[in-house]
Amino acid sequence: NYKQTKLNCFQVDPYCCQRRTPLQHHNKLLTDAFEILEENAEYIESSNDTKGYSRNLAYRRVLAVLRSLPQAVTSVKQIKDVKHIGGHSQKIIQELLEEKCCLEVEEIKRSVRYNKMKLFTGVFGAGVSTARRWYDTGMTSLNDVIQHNEDRSTAQKYGLAFFDDLNMPVLKAEAEQVKSIVKNITESILPGVSVTVTGGFRRGKTVGHDIDLLISHPKEGAEIGLLGKILEKLQQLNLILYGSHNKCTYSERHFTEEPRDPPTNSQMDHFEKWFGIIGLPKISTEKTVLIAENDASDKSIKDLVDLSKSEKSWTAKRVDLIIVPSSQYFYGLVGWTGNKMFNRDLRLYAQKELNMRLSSHGLYDLTKGCLLTSNSEEEVFKYLKLPVIPPELRNC
Ligand code: GTP
Ligand code: MN
Ligand code: MN
Repeated sequence: NYKQTKLNCFQVDPYCCQRRTPLQHHNKLLTDAFEILEENAEYIESSNDTKGYSRNLAYRRVLAVLRSLPQAVTSVKQIKDVKHIGGHSQKIIQELLEEKCCLEVEEIKRSVRYNKMKLFTGVFGAGVSTARRWYDTGMTSLNDVIQHNEDRSTAQKYGLAFFDDLNMPVLKAEAEQVKSIVKNITESILPGVSVTVTGGFRRGKTVGHDIDLLISHPKEGAEIGLLGKILEKLQQLNLILYGSHNKCTYSERHFTEEPRDPPTNSQMDHFEKWFGIIGLPKISTEKTVLIAENDASDKSIKDLVDLSKSEKSWTAKRVDLIIVPSSQYFYGLVGWTGNKMFNRDLRLYAQKELNMRLSSHGLYDLTKGCLLTSNSEEEVFKYLKLPVIPPELRNC
């Protein structure tokens, strides 16, 4: 009997970048519950707490383990030795296995705070701290937030006005549609350019919350000044609703050999990029009618709400455009493919196990004091002494 129990125990590698984690896994009953706990912990934790223990991160680690298991957990004994699954989580798993539901999770799902925070953090431009401020001020609906007389960022105004559009899942076909629009425009400006759909779609997801496009050109340096021209063109075509263009200087965009910035935790990079919202023509409608004025950033929120509710032949979609110099392309590709947890552990693993510093710009070997350039994604994994995990198995 003991032997059998032992055989049934799951062996789990400590870092999720060492594991294969498919989108469809065997423990949905458990992960559905832990997803609620994870979200709720994020809503409760204050952002400057992250130096200390984070319940949110602990739950994310439990989730990453559960998603990677080759079979359904049938007894809590099977995971009792797994790193990252602590006592409290084990109790929850036991309860879920026995009762098919968990009291703590059910209470969260019913709580007003959780539901309002979920609603408010669903607004583009509003993070947890903004959502908490709205909640603490006593607002309970999006209408309250719209009508409340408070200065808001332009991003939040658009997020509020186009809440319905932006909370409709983005389909893979729409991602491909945006990709070809961007590709055609870009190709006419700079022939030979590559445009790649990354993020969740590259990991095999069929729906997403946005469209992440990596733009690069084989000739290093040819990409300088490109994004501004692409945006001008998108503007002329009246496709842009809102956008924020992060320009970086040339030197900032290039990975210097001097280690700088904390390598872990932060997913921020120094690529030139644009975070925005486009009005995507609805598939199979005429593409002639497009949108509002070029720069609608000074519009009132009421004008925007009216615009969003009007009969229109387009839908608002979140798009990220990232310019990646050719020499950093494969590191950028890994970084922007994600998922977030995979990146986090990849960087932590590189630092702790190999004394290397990984970012979306490159890999620096601190022991040898040199930069490791890469010509493929496989090579990145080889430098990191990891099995090559394909994008579809990075859904930690
Ligand atoms: P959905 O969009 O919800 O389908 O999931 P997603 O995985 O595509 O998420 P998201 O678009 O937020 O991010 C895509 C990947 O890019 C993730 O792995 C993030 O870690 C990464 N990412 C997001 N924002 C940044 C950023 O500012 N800098 C860098 N380097 N990476 C980012
Ligand atoms: Mn995405
Ligand atoms: Mn994104």
